[in-house]
Amino acid sequence: MLIEEQNGNFAKPVLCAGAVSKDGISLIHGDSLQALKSYGDNYFDIAIVDPPYGINAGKMTMGSGKHKFTKDKDWDSAIPSEEYFAELFRVSENQIVWGGNYFTEFLPPSPHWLLWDKKNPNLSFAEGELAWVRKGKNLRIFQHYSAQVEEGGKIHPTQKPIKLYEWILKNYAEQGDKILDTHLGSGSSRIAAHKAGLSFVGFEIDKEYFDAQEKRFKNYKSQLRLF
Ligand SMILES: C[S@@+](CC[C@H](N)C(=O)[O-])C[C@H]1O[C@@H](n2cnc3c(N)ncnc32)[C@H](O)[C@@H]1O
Repeated sequence: MLIEEQNGNFAKPVLCAGAVSKDGISLIHGDSLQALKSYGDNYFDIAIVDPPYGINAGKMTMGSGKHKFTKDKDWDSAIPSEEYFAELFRVSENQIVWGGNYFTEFLPPSPHWLLWDKKNPNLSFAEGELAWVRKGKNLRIFQHYSAQVEEGGKIHPTQKPIKLYEWILKNYAEQGDKILDTHLGSGSSRIAAHKAGLSFVGFEIDKEYFDAQEKRFKNYKSQLRLF
């Protein structure tokens, strides 16, 4: 299946399974590094990415009750390669990289970081997360307790809130921007981009997560139709 041509600076089509394209949104089930190679320089205005931190989150037991994840997945066994970061910087004008504190060997010094304060002091896991930002507004803090049940439930062990991505888009993107997420996971970024009316390209390598975020997006759209 082809990733769609949008502005003429697409070098060549990428072969990936399960590409979906509507509402200015393209979703690709496949390896983001291979796919990035087919985009022109600075094709995207902002890349908002959340790559593996290399801490084996896919093998951890996270959450509780029906939001408990015990899947034995190895997507988080290593951080992305230097080549991935080179491609990311080539295809996008600005980058926001979640887990930037894990990738310091590949990210230049920057005064522009984001802190998501999870506002939950009882967490056994991190009480906040850091994102490295290339062009921004010095350090910014977003405080938000993630009640994911309000956002259609938790379908991914490291799911970030839609509200977090909405805040990022409001503060770092402009109307007409093209947004990239190379590691889609639950698709929270996709839903936020849709809400903001921005065009979006997202990649996810794991078929189970890819299908789950498709279903979540459909549920979100059907809720919209109800109101
Ligand atoms: C940290 S999670 C992203 C979580 C996401 N931000 C969310 O809110 O749900 C990283 C995701 O990247 C996916 N992934 C790992 N390597 C990949 C690759 N080479 N290309 C595309 N996706 C990949 C994993 O399957 C996992 O779902």
